[in-house]
This record gives sequence, C-alpha cells and structure tokens, in this order.
Amino acid sequence: MAKWQTRKLEVLVGKPVEVRLLSSALSFSMASLPSYNLAIVGATGAVGLELLRVLERRQFPVRDLRLLASARSAGKTLTFQNRSIPVQQLTADAFDDIDFAFFSAGATRSREYVPVARQAGAIVIDNSSAFRMVPDVPLVVPEINPEALDAHQGLIANPNCSAAILGVALAPLHRAACLRRVVVSTYQSASGAGAAAMQELEDQARAFAQGQPMVAKIFPHPIAFNVFSHNTPVAANGFNEEENKMVEETRKLFSLPELPILPTCIRVPVLRAHSESVTAEFASPLSAAEARALLAAAPGIKVIDDPENNTFPMPLRASGDLDVHVGRIRQDPSDPRTLAFFVSGDQLLKGAAWNAVQIAETLIHRGLARKSSAGPV
Ligand code: A2P
Repeated sequence: MAKWQTRKLEVLVGKPVEVRLLSSALSFSMASLPSYNLAIVGATGAVGLELLRVLERRQFPVRDLRLLASARSAGKTLTFQNRSIPVQQLTADAFDDIDFAFFSAGATRSREYVPVARQAGAIVIDNSSAFRMVPDVPLVVPEINPEALDAHQGLIANPNCSAAILGVALAPLHRAACLRRVVVSTYQSASGAGAAAMQELEDQARAFAQGQPMVAKIFPHPIAFNVFSHNTPVAANGFNEEENKMVEETRKLFSLPELPILPTCIRVPVLRAHSESVTAEFASPLSAAEARALLAAAPGIKVIDDPENNTFPMPLRASGDLDVHVGRIRQDPSDPRTLAFFVSGDQLLKGAAWNAVQIAETLIHRGLARKSSAGPV
C-alpha cells in the first residue's frame, strides 16, 4: 500500500523543506505476484506497441495476453517476451477471462467495447477520452491521485497526455505551496496522433530532403519543418479540444474544479515526447531552489536543470524514459509566488502506456484488482 512520507530536504535548499512524497510505492517490484490475463485493444497502434514494451520492462506478471485490433490486423503477429502472439479482431467475446483490459483504439471503440469488457468482468484502463470526465470514473495519474482508485468500479480513465505530463510536474509543487493559476504552452509531438502521424513526419522529412512535395494526410498542414496550432477542432469558447481537455482533466486530477488554467496547444515536428512551457502561480512564495528540491525528491521526475551547459529538458532525451523531465526552473522576478519551468515527457509512455500500466500496478498493490462490477457507464 502506498504511504505518504515526510522527508526533510536541506541539501539543495540550505534550509529544511517539508516534502510529502509517495514512498517507493510508485516503483513496485512486480516479481512474486499472482499473474493476470491481459487484453490490449489497439495492440498494433503507437500506444498499443508501447504497452507491450512497458509490460516487458516492468516484468508485469502476465499469464495470458490477448492482442486485439481491427479486422485489417487479424492474422498479424506481435512479439512479447520473445513469443509470437497473433493479433485478433476486436469482437464482443474477446474479453472472457480477462483481468485487465487496456484500451487504446480511440473513443469510438471504447464507447462500444468498454461496457462489454466490464460486463465480462475485466477491469478496464481506458486511454481514450470517452469516459475521463464521467464523475464516478476515476481519472488517475498515480503520482497525483492514487487514492482516487479506491472507489473504482471496473473502469479507470488514463488522462490526456499533455495533462498527465503537466500534472506530474505540478503535483509536488502544489503539495508544498498550493496552486493558484497555470499558464501553459505545449510543444506536442507527432506521436500524439498515432503511428500513422509519426510515419507522416518521417515521410515529409524524407520528401523535403529529396526536393519532393510534402504530402499531408493525417495532419491538416505539413508537420515537418513547421509549427501549427493543435489539430483538434476549435470549440465555441475559442479553445481547441486539446486545450479544453488539459483544463478539465487537470482540474479533475487535482480535485481543484475552479483552478484557472490558460493553455495554448501547438504541434511541433518532433517524433515523440511532448514538451510544455509552464508558468504556475502558487498561494505562497516558492524559490527556484525550493522547487528544484521538491521536484528532485518527487516520484516520476528527473530534474534536468544545468544552466552552465545550457542543458534543460528536451524531447529527444525524454523519449523512452518513464520519468518526466523538468528544468529551466525560475522564479518570476516580479512575483515570488510564480514559477516558470520547462517540461518534456514521453507522450507514449507517461502520457499513455506507462501511466496505464502504472495504474494496473497501483491497483494490484492497493489490493484493488478485484473483478469488475456494474458501474456508472
Ligand atoms: P489496426 O492497426 O488494425 O488499424 P494509432 O493510435 O497508432 O493510430 O492506433 C490505433 C489502434 O486502434 C490500432 O491498433 C488500430 O488497429 C486500432 N483500431 C482502429 N480501428 C479499430 C477497430 N474498428 N476495431 C479495433 N481496433 C481498431
């Protein structure tokens, strides 16, 4: 069971700083546990393939693994722990005897098949946006709100990637100084739009180098050598869907329903790992040194803050890392309660696959991996 601990950090700050942090519970050992039957819906997609790698990396106790995708992929095989596993078409009877079902095939498939999986007794961890804002469905980042899992009814939502990465960085600062307002600009990679979008970036870069026209099919504009406002539709409030998700989901994750958040979401020609420039205002003053110490002690974070060598978080370096990188930490000279910092986190890992597996691990360790029951959706 995860326990909150209090630690005193004096080294970096020069004075005692009270830090509440999750014990090593967030990097559980998965050895010597009972094993589970897993299903991955969308196994052939960008997140699905990462789920396979994360389950291997974490030595998740897997008894049986069912890989599900569209009819197009039926008959393909994928490798897991040096075994070739056939991909099956997603059908209503695909969830018999499944303990955990990871969904990553888009909101339409989730709306149709999540109720089926729950009916069959599986605990669903859904990466889509379909159920995130349903009041009784826990939306969880284990570094922020693991206690939200306690009341789960067989369905847990995995947050939007930009919200998850932002939340990991904000959590230890919020615990120390109480968030009052957040202004955030994102630098979002192609991976957020799936495997085909990553391929599109590579194809356009190759075409450009060969003097050929860059063809845009997935994104509305060329993504190579370009920057554009996030490709989700702009809502009546003037914010695009991604920006609205960041606001709503961050508020839900922190149980701060009124928290003012001003996001600007942008696509950049990066293959994977999202970055975010964050300005956060707190109720009490927080120096850069205090923030650095709090972040360094928090689970799921690496502080990369090296002004001498001008080295700070970068998506290339964050790619493949389970941790969120935080740096460029500065106090606003005009307001001691406001901090600016820069974050890079692997969208496919902490923004998706790793957070989903971490939710399953946390459920197991909190004794909550019980069979699914009738729930709110
Ligand atoms: P498939 O590869 O068979 O199309 P990404 O986010 O990288 O675009 O991946 C989307 C995932 O969702 C893929 O695994 C894809 O499978 C899966 N998917 C798409 N449509 C369906 C569908 N109708 N039924 C089941 N899986 C689907």
